[in-house]
Amino acid sequence: MIRHLSPSLPMTETSHPEDFQAEITRRYDAPMYRAMLEVYGDQIHPGFLNNDDRDIREAALRATARLAELARITAGTRVLETACGVGGTARFLAAECGATVVATNIARSQLAIAGEWTRDARGADRIRFEYADYHALPYADASFEVYWCQDSLLFSTERGRALAEAARVVRPGGTIAISDLVVVGTPAPAAAALLTAISAPGLWSAEDYRQGLEAAGFEAIVTEDWSRHVLPSFELIEAGIAAKRARLAAIASEADVEETLERYALWCRAARTGNLGWAALVGTRRAQS
Ligand SMILES: C[S@@+](CC[C@H](N)C(=O)[O-])C[C@H]1O[C@@H](n2cnc3c(N)ncnc32)[C@H](O)[C@@H]1O
Repeated sequence: MIRHLSPSLPMTETSHPEDFQAEITRRYDAPMYRAMLEVYGDQIHPGFLNNDDRDIREAALRATARLAELARITAGTRVLETACGVGGTARFLAAECGATVVATNIARSQLAIAGEWTRDARGADRIRFEYADYHALPYADASFEVYWCQDSLLFSTERGRALAEAARVVRPGGTIAISDLVVVGTPAPAAAALLTAISAPGLWSAEDYRQGLEAAGFEAIVTEDWSRHVLPSFELIEAGIAAKRARLAAIASEADVEETLERYALWCRAARTGNLGWAALVGTRRAQS
């Protein structure tokens, strides 16, 4: 049974969240996701685009830098990053902010790439990659100063549980910093159907996340609306896939590339409805919940 705060879009009905989780792991471990790194680089999320941006990575790093600023990450800050992709953000936080980062993921092939790409990186001695599901973190209570999760809670079938885990592992007075795709407004039936189709297990709104953070034990929650960046980001990613089609097909397959292009075309369509947004939220762990 999946529990959630009345989200603005219904979560996909499934009595087996673990099956969905296994599907997500398969997706991120698949050759096509290795191929997608040719487009994303090491930042697997939308970005803040400048007019002259030709690829998404620099833009995505600007979003990461902004979240780090909101979370006030400085030298020595102990960060737990969940759903770390291939470690781009962990490397940024260690090298640019001087943080110490435990970066976790359930996709083992991404963890392997993260390790490889970090070997010679600046600040590598302050980064550790580990397997962990954000619904059940293998860490002691109050063991981190910052919990960080970028553009990955949308894959959770039990977001309340994931946020409760965040609150458990962050020390009182510590920080949660997240960004994610969100639903904006009340989509008309066609837009709602499109969003539900592409975003299983269902998107939350920024307000759902704010309430979720509050319920988990966070206060002084600040929300930033990054929605205007979503469509240009997805358009740039879609163009990147089309431009690198042959290279991607050599890593995965022509059929995989075709399917991925169709998926990103749908994300662009969803963004054009005005009901697909992007939000960052930062909050402080209450002394007691
Ligand atoms: C869109 S990528 C974002 C990666 C990274 N945060 C970034 O921004 O570059 C989503 C990530 O979520 C991870 N993920 C999905 N469900 C997870 C879970 N239950 N626990 C930990 N990681 C998960 C996937 O393996 C993937 O690395």
